[in-house]
Amino acid sequence: MSKHILLLKKEISKFLHTDNIFFHYKGRVSLYAILRAMGVGEGDEIIIPAYTCVVVPNPIIYLGAKPIYVEIDEKNLCMDLNILENAITDKTMAIICQNTYGLSANVDAIVDIAKKHKLYTIEDCTHGFGGTYKGKANGSYCDAAFYSMQWNKPFSSGIGGFMTVNNNLLLNKIQDQENNKIEPGLLTKINLKFLFLIKRYLLNNTTYWIMVKMYRWLSKNNLVTGSSSGGEITDVIMPEHFFMNYSNIQAKEGLRNINALPENLELRKKNAAIYSGFLKENDKRFVAEDLFENHSFLKYPVFVKNRKQFMEYARRNKIELGDWFNSPIHPIQFNFEKWFIDPENYPIANEAAKHVVNIPVDTKNPQRIISFLEKYIDEIL
Ligand SMILES: Cc1ncc(COP(=O)(O)O)c(C=O)c1O
Repeated sequence: MSKHILLLKKEISKFLHTDNIFFHYKGRVSLYAILRAMGVGEGDEIIIPAYTCVVVPNPIIYLGAKPIYVEIDEKNLCMDLNILENAITDKTMAIICQNTYGLSANVDAIVDIAKKHKLYTIEDCTHGFGGTYKGKANGSYCDAAFYSMQWNKPFSSGIGGFMTVNNNLLLNKIQDQENNKIEPGLLTKINLKFLFLIKRYLLNNTTYWIMVKMYRWLSKNNLVTGSSSGGEITDVIMPEHFFMNYSNIQAKEGLRNINALPENLELRKKNAAIYSGFLKENDKRFVAEDLFENHSFLKYPVFVKNRKQFMEYARRNKIELGDWFNSPIHPIQFNFEKWFIDPENYPIANEAAKHVVNIPVDTKNPQRIISFLEKYIDEIL
């Protein structure tokens, strides 16, 4: 392991209190590694929330298994516990719970259900690194957890992922697999370095919208190292070199950003409370106070009447509004059957996908966001 990866591992273990940390090129690759170590294969079923990113069902399908979706709870936008058991069959191998926007799922209750049925549990902490659940770091309760260091995640290394393993029986299998990782090529590393420089020196409120548009177009056409390659969002065929390692250049960038995380987490929680107060005062939907204690608030979800129109208002007002999740399997809009889902069967998730936008929480000037929300208050639900 290179020097910077080792240093980053040390920093991460201060948050997660474990040394069983394994790095991959992206969070989705860590998920793939976990599933493979669990022996997931042809005909198996993996339960996931019906409000996620398509890169979650993808590795399940790459392994020949089937994602089984569970409707979400309106309150935390995570899997609805009351109906979870209905999704379990004799083919189920594992349940994936997710910290949507940094809001924790009821992880201990999910783990109890899984234990009752002798199933593995995996926590998708890609939004929730730095948050805690009942006094322990997100990711501590399940057999394994995976995290993302992609651009707009809790701390970023441009692109990147890692996993933690809490189940000792899985550990040996995971360690064996690690030897098969493909190393990122020189071109990939140069590409990433170039993107880091652009982000550091050119990205700001004014350039945000044009940069996001350009980046998405370039990565969709495989012209830059993107968060998702074009193929990952049009089909379910595993991309070439998918099982790729993390590089020193990513770790260097990650180290630069993880140091700012504790301060950033405080800021996000403070801003989220300001936004909740404002929305509550105006009789709009807000994140409930009882979710505030432990959650990391990667994003703050706001429900709006017309999502497309609201995004346009944000662009005009130079507000860095996020568009997660624009589909129950973001960003898929067509051919849902390839991912074994019909959005109409998940009305709460489908409704969230049609109406949720995310306002930035890591801003030093939340008043700017409040003024924007105030201006378009009639457009907010
Ligand atoms: C809920 C969720 N899970 C998993 C991932 C995958 O993370 P990565 O981009 O590091 O593969 C994402 C990516 O944005 C996500 O939103």
